[in-house]
Order: sequence, then C-alpha cells, then structure tokens
Amino acid sequence: MHVNGKVALVTGAAQGIGRAFVQMLLEKGAKVVLVDLNREAGEESKRTIFIQCDVADQEQFEGTFKKAVEHFGKLDILVNNAGVNNEKNWESTIQINLTSVIRGTYIGLEYMKKGNGGDGGVIINISSLAGLMPAAHQPVYCATKHGIIGFTRSIAMAANMGNYGVRLNTICPGFVNTPILKSIEKEENMGQYFAYKDEIKNMMKFYAYLFIFSPSLIAEGLITIIEDDALNGEVMKISASQGIHFQEYNQLPFQLRKL
Ligand SMILES: NC(=O)c1ccc[n+]([C@@H]2O[C@H](COP(=O)([O-])OP(=O)(O)OC[C@H]3O[C@@H](n4cnc5c(N)ncnc54)[C@H](O)[C@@H]3O)[C@@H](O)[C@H]2O)c1
Repeated sequence: MHVNGKVALVTGAAQGIGRAFVQMLLEKGAKVVLVDLNREAGEESKRTIFIQCDVADQEQFEGTFKKAVEHFGKLDILVNNAGVNNEKNWESTIQINLTSVIRGTYIGLEYMKKGNGGDGGVIINISSLAGLMPAAHQPVYCATKHGIIGFTRSIAMAANMGNYGVRLNTICPGFVNTPILKSIEKEENMGQYFAYKDEIKNMMKFYAYLFIFSPSLIAEGLITIIEDDALNGEVMKISASQGIHFQEYNQLPFQLRKL
C-alpha cells in the first residue's frame, strides 16, 4: 500500500515513538489523526487532526474513530501504539497496553474491513522485544507485550481467512530513547520493583546492543510494513545491533494465502 493520500490514526501520538510515526507518515503524504491523553501533540495542520482520548475509555475510544472518519472520510492505517510502563498500577497497564490494543483493533476492523463498507488497510500493533523474552521487574508490562503478539498473529490469520483486506502486524522495538524509559526510576511506576532500580539499570547496560537512539528507525519499520503488501501476521523486531528484521516461526496455514 502506498502511504501517499492515505488516512492513518496513531495512538500515543504526542511524543516518543508515536510522534516519530506521525512525522514519517506526514512526510510520506498521509493524513494523520493524532490520538493521545496529552494535549501537547503539536500544531494541527490541513493533513492532521488531534483528538484527546484515553484509549482505556471504551466510549472515548469509539468516539475517536467516529470523529476521525467523519473528518477525513475513511481510515486506511491504524497504529495502536499508546502504552505505559507501570507495575504498581498493573491492572491499568493491562487495560492500556493490551485491552485497548485489542479494542482498537476491533474498532479499526469495523471501519476498514471489506464487506463492511471499508476499503481494507493495515493495522500495526506496537509490542516490544519484551514481548518475546522475559523482563525482570516488569512482569506485567512483559505479559501485555506477549499478549499483543499472540492476539495480532491470531487476528491476522482470521483476517486472511475472512478476506477482510486488512493486514495486521506487530512491531517489537528494543530500548528506544523516549520518555517511557524514565519510568524505570520512579516508585509510582515500578512499585515493589523500585528497590531494584540499580539492577534494572545494569541490565539495560547488558542489553546496550539493543538500544536505539532515535525513534525514527521504528518509523522506518512502520513504513516497511505499510508498503509491503506481502506482510501479514509478521512480528518485526528492531534493535540497534540487528536493525529491522523479523521473528521466525514455523509455517502457518494462513501464510499460504497472501492478500
Ligand atoms: N521506548 C522504548 O524503549 C520502547 C521499547 C519497546 C516498545 N515500546 C512501546 O512503544 C510504545 C510507545 O512508547 P514510547 O517509548 O513512545 O513511550 P512514551 O511514554 O514516550 O509515549 C507514550 C505515549 O502514549 C500516551 N498514552 C499513554 N497512555 C495513554 C492512554 N491511556 N490513552 C492515550 N494515550 C496514552 C502518552 O501520553 C504518550 O504520549 C509503547 O507501547 C511502548 O510500550 C517502547
């Protein structure tokens, strides 16, 4: 799919990786709906609209899609990116990182899938390398990121079987230099694991080869997924040492039928 002229909705768009996604999508000629809790998402322009929304609030989230489609007339690309690192308020972490990604995917499919008035499209759900390996002192964050991968691979299979015309893929970044990393040093985020903050920092040094300095590399991965129509149900990994690459799995039946 070419990005030029398409309508994209990005959650968690105000800063960090989401902001880099928005910039890259705009550079490629998309119209972008920026969705975030935080109002400071930058100036609106002819090709952007900002909608303040808590993705964990079902009514607000549904209303956001409605407003987006009313404004730009359609939806082609959905990026479920909003996420938090909070082991203290872990139920809320599940709500934001996993439940809202599932809900966003289902709402997005209602607008995008063929046979339901949509033109098809692409959905990208943002997981983490913590979705493929354990993350000591972040067990709930890790569980939500594992959950995103299982959900997205499964719904990609269903979309293929149902001829939705929508591809669904996951991106798993390594550590990226964004504000979320500061949460590791805060008691209100880490709760019982706050005591281990020095160990966590040492662990991050151990994984330094995964550390990505600019979220723009993650945005390049996003564009690759949007533009390559052969990608469905894939898990893209991005790290400093290996760049953009894919998790390998055994062959699945849905891989036999490409869109
Ligand atoms: N930075 C990393 O090292 C890293 C690594 C792997 C995966 N990720 C994932 O990438 C995504 C983006 O992370 P980031 O590094 O840009 O973090 P960030 O904290 O810089 O940005 C997250 C954005 O999401 C928004 N947000 C949080 N809760 C929300 C809610 N309930 N409703 C709407 N918006 C909400 C925040 O306001 C913020 O603008 C997250 O899902 C994160 O788990 C980040």
